[in-house]
Amino acid sequence: MHDHIFLSALLRGRPDVYPTWLMRQAGRSMAAYRAMREEHSFIELAKTPALAAEVTAQPVEGYGVDAAILFSDIMFVLQGLDFEVDFNPGPVVRNPVRSAADVRRLGGFDIDQCCFIIEAVREAKVRLDGTVPLIGFTGGPLTLAAYAMEGGAIGDMENTRRLYSEEPEALGGLLDAIAVAVAALLEAEADAGADVLMIFDTWAARLGAEGFNRALPHVRKITDALKRTGKPVIYMARDTKAILGLLAGAGADAYAVDWTVTPAEARSALGGDAAIMGNLDPAALLGTPDEIEEAVHKLMEDGVVDVPSLGHGVRPDTPEENVGAFVRAVHSFGRRR
Ligand code: CP3
Repeated sequence: MHDHIFLSALLRGRPDVYPTWLMRQAGRSMAAYRAMREEHSFIELAKTPALAAEVTAQPVEGYGVDAAILFSDIMFVLQGLDFEVDFNPGPVVRNPVRSAADVRRLGGFDIDQCCFIIEAVREAKVRLDGTVPLIGFTGGPLTLAAYAMEGGAIGDMENTRRLYSEEPEALGGLLDAIAVAVAALLEAEADAGADVLMIFDTWAARLGAEGFNRALPHVRKITDALKRTGKPVIYMARDTKAILGLLAGAGADAYAVDWTVTPAEARSALGGDAAIMGNLDPAALLGTPDEIEEAVHKLMEDGVVDVPSLGHGVRPDTPEENVGAFVRAVHSFGRRR
């Protein structure tokens, strides 16, 4: 497994064929997933290891992507900090924190509340049977803190901004507790067999560069803790452009960037050691297969991107054949030496 093209590309090797995978490759764009959703809620699928393993494998078998991502959600780690998490269909936190006193009442991280994730990693590894690496993941500190404070839709982060300006030490305490939980869960996922660890910090740029800078030491604590595992770490934040100059401080091996930057801009900000993943607009997958091939090859032309992919998740209305066209276009692009 250690010489798989996906792992090699994350460490900036130059495999003969470029590897690809797509965020949200499993899920509502796949008929096989929609059929399972007729029988089970999203939470049932994610919390039943055999079903989660089955959904994890669907895009590997259906599209020929070069990595599987565990079928789970960034939100579940918050259950280990006593948050009540639900989906409708977006995340809901039933007992949000709103003050320094709320933050002080948080207990330590109880990983037993996340044992279904660890079990799903084990089952997915068995199901994948060595075909492709498995990505284990959770959320980033500011993103999860924002969900824990807003209680659901992120909007313009009203509660988060209020705590940030009025009780900054409370926000610090929350980020700290979440970073400890995220590191512990990702370490456990690695020990259970996850080959790559990914931190989805979707909303990390929402408070601008200053807010990102505030969260960065907590991200760094996670990536430092994960060094022990020896597994490559991918970090993702939306609105990459707003934080590009600070991004390398996350300490990851690879960065998933969105379309607000060009790969060349990402490369000059991140330096030569980090792998770059991305960054087509997911709407590109709504074109014809020929248009998709053209967009993919244009993305790959200058050889800067290590893992050609989307800048965000596959949209639910994406035709399956178009995801297939994307994967074939990546694989058919010859590596120029
Ligand atoms: O295929 C994969 O990428 C793996 C599965 C996965 C899910 N969520 C399943 C899911 C991953 C990697 C995530 C990460 C996630 N979850 C993020 C970070 C990535 C991003 O989107 O920026 C965030 C912010 C969440 C929180 C979350 N969970 C949202 C906003 C939603 C609603 C999404 C929507 O479009 O309605 C969810 C629910 C969720 N998580 C679904 C899936 C497949 C939809 C569940 C369903 O109704 O079937």
